[in-house]
Amino acid sequence: MSQLKNPPSLGDEYLQNPHDLSARLRAEGPARPVTMPDGVRVWLVTSHAEARALLTDPRLSSDGVYDRLEYARQLAEGKKIEFSRSLAAHLLNVDPPDHTRLRKLVNKAFTGRTIARLRPRVEEIADELLDAIPENEPVDLIPAFALPLPIQVICELMGIPADDRGRFAGWSGQMVSTAAPEEIGAASEAMAGYLAGLVEGKRAEPADDLLSALVHASEDGDRLTVPELIAMTFVLLIGGYETTVNLISGGVLSLLREPAQLAALRADPGLLPNAIEEFLRFETPNNMASPRFTKEPVVVGDVTIPKDELVMVSLLAGNRDAERFADPDRLDITRPTGAHLGFGHGIHYCVGAPLGRLEGEIAIGRLLERFSRMELAVDPAGLRWRSSTQMHGLEALPLLLRH
Ligand code: HEM
Repeated sequence: MSQLKNPPSLGDEYLQNPHDLSARLRAEGPARPVTMPDGVRVWLVTSHAEARALLTDPRLSSDGVYDRLEYARQLAEGKKIEFSRSLAAHLLNVDPPDHTRLRKLVNKAFTGRTIARLRPRVEEIADELLDAIPENEPVDLIPAFALPLPIQVICELMGIPADDRGRFAGWSGQMVSTAAPEEIGAASEAMAGYLAGLVEGKRAEPADDLLSALVHASEDGDRLTVPELIAMTFVLLIGGYETTVNLISGGVLSLLREPAQLAALRADPGLLPNAIEEFLRFETPNNMASPRFTKEPVVVGDVTIPKDELVMVSLLAGNRDAERFADPDRLDITRPTGAHLGFGHGIHYCVGAPLGRLEGEIAIGRLLERFSRMELAVDPAGLRWRSSTQMHGLEALPLLLRH
């Protein structure tokens, strides 16, 4: 039956296995209306070619899109999330020229050289975490390794005190979840208040860290304002680990499900960089790109998306499109993965991509080096994916590891 007349609801079945419904929708056409778990109706884009085209199409806008999303949610659920206004001026909520300006300033502080210099420290953090993992007893890889690694890296990079890490990880986890509106609103207020204090601290006492560099970064005499700094810190922090944790855990699970691929990687660690790209394609850590809306009607394949509609580009669905990737539902760590959408595309392409790749390589490389045996400690059917349409990541990954 046409999904145009009966838009499917993205409920738990979808969250647990987004690939099947994505394939069914794509078979019908590149964009179809769907109902999000909070009741908001959006257009979901599932084809690779259209995803890439729309991510660079200026008729799609990010400008204040989170307010629109909240308004739509209010209409659908009768409840509005009161997101902290201090977090609004972030990169994924603005169009050029504001976006160009913010991006230039962050690029200045976030260079490839800064990231490459991090390698020895990331290796050290990975080794310390792996040292603490017991052998031969079930251990959940996420709290033991996949989550603390990127949190520690981004916090050290930005200059965030170690003692504060548990607090904001809780808030940000709630903010990307499908929790109740009041809980999400309260988490965002707590986060904004915390970040404001942090930025103030770095203004008063700059240190050798990314946040201090952002406070003082200037381009043609231009600087980030305090609200912009708060919002930038927010998006760098959340972007810095909410996704990387999914790359590490999703990559490990993909290998466990395909023992021949795991054996190939163990036999030739030189395959690791390409394997990381394949993990980003195969179990894409960000299911959907951040929302966009149409500034005018846009024809996408066989449909016209009217003006002022919300559009969700599914990077995960585009990455499983057979028109772009041969045999897309097969993990193949040697395949060409060019143009995968794991880090997005266009002006919002991930600013942290080099860091995400570095962390993924070190995490999975060190884990395999350290443990010669690795197996699931639970029935694979019992594994659950997080309750989020934005993030595609496991809730837990219990493993048995042996040296
Ligand atoms: C494997 C890890 C990562 C993945 C899969 C990932 C994925 C993505 C994707 C798909 C986008 C584009 C979203 C859109 O177009 O709506 C994005 C943007 C962004 N990411 Fe990442 N990311 C990762 C790591 C990081 C890290 C480590 C940082 C920060 C240190 C970061 C910071 C950002 C920021 C600030 C943006 C917004 C860029 C803009 O709007 O110009 N990400 N990321």
